[in-house]
Amino acid sequence: MHLSSARAIVTGGVSGLGLAVARHLVAHGGKVALFDVNDEKGAAAVAELGEANARYFKTDVTHEAGVVGNVNAAREFLGGLNVAVNCAGILGSGRVLGKEGAMPLSQFQTTVMVNLVGSFNVAKAAAELMQHNEAGTDGERGVIVNTASVAAYEGQIGQAAYSASKGGVVAMTLPMARELSRFGIRVMTIAPGVFWTPMVDGMPESVQQSLAASIPFPSRLGQPAEFADLVAYILGNTYLNGETIRLDGATRLAPK
Ligand SMILES: NC(=O)c1ccc[n+]([C@@H]2O[C@H](COP(=O)([O-])OP(=O)(O)OC[C@H]3O[C@@H](n4cnc5c(N)ncnc54)[C@H](O)[C@@H]3O)[C@@H](O)[C@H]2O)c1
Repeated sequence: MHLSSARAIVTGGVSGLGLAVARHLVAHGGKVALFDVNDEKGAAAVAELGEANARYFKTDVTHEAGVVGNVNAAREFLGGLNVAVNCAGILGSGRVLGKEGAMPLSQFQTTVMVNLVGSFNVAKAAAELMQHNEAGTDGERGVIVNTASVAAYEGQIGQAAYSASKGGVVAMTLPMARELSRFGIRVMTIAPGVFWTPMVDGMPESVQQSLAASIPFPSRLGQPAEFADLVAYILGNTYLNGETIRLDGATRLAPK
C-alpha cells in the first residue's frame, strides 16, 4: 500500500520506536491513532504530529474490551483502518533466581501479558475490522506489524521473561499470516537489535557503550527512524508476509 493511504493504529506510539513509526507515516500523508498509557507523552506526540493526523487513545493493550472499544474509535477518527503496528512493550528484566530469591511469577506474567498477549489482543481486534475493508491491490485489506526483539533468539541472562514474550511474538507471526491470508491481511514482525530509545536511555552509560561496541556494523545503536523505515517498506511490499526480519547490524547478543 502507499503510505499516504495508511490508516494506522500504532501501540506504544507516543515513545521510541512507535513514535518514529507515527512520525514516518504522518510525514508521508498517513493518519495515526496512538495507543499508549502515557498521557503526557500522548499529548506531546499529538501536538507534534498535528490533531488532524494523529490522536491519542489511552489504551492498555492487555485490556480486551478497552482495546476493542478503542480500535473502533480509532477507525472512526482515521476514516478506516488498514494498518496496526504493535510497538507497546516493557523490558521486565530480572533473574529467575535473583538476589532476593526466585522471580515473582507476577513479573513474568506481566511481561508476557504486555509484550505477547497485548500484541495478540490488538492484532485480533484490528483484523476483525480489517477483514471488511474493500480489497486493494492483490486483494490486500490490511497489514499487521509486530515488534519482537533479537532477544527472542539470543536472550541474555535476566531476559527469561522478555525473551519468552518476544519468542511468542515471533512464533505467532506465521500461523496468523496463514490464517488471515484469506482476508488479504498480512502479518509481519520486526526483531530489532539495540535501538536508541527511552528504554535504552534508562540504562547505565557503561551498558550503552558496551552494547554499541558489540554491534558489528554499523557499530552503534539503531535509530528509531531506521525501524520506521522498515515498517514503511513492509507496508509497501505486498509480497512480504509471515516472516520476522532482524534489524540489528548483525548483532548477536552475548549471554550477559
Ligand atoms: N529499544 C530497543 O533497543 C528495542 C530492542 C528490541 C525490541 N524493542 C521493542 O520495541 C518496542 C518499543 O520499544 P521502545 O524502545 O520504543 O520503548 P519505549 O519505552 O520508548 O516505548 C514503549 C511504549 O509502550 C508503552 N506501553 C507500555 N506498556 C503498555 C501497555 N500495557 N499498553 C499500552 N502501551 C504500553 C509505554 O508507555 C511506551 O510509550 C517494545 O516492544 C520493545 O520491547 C526495543
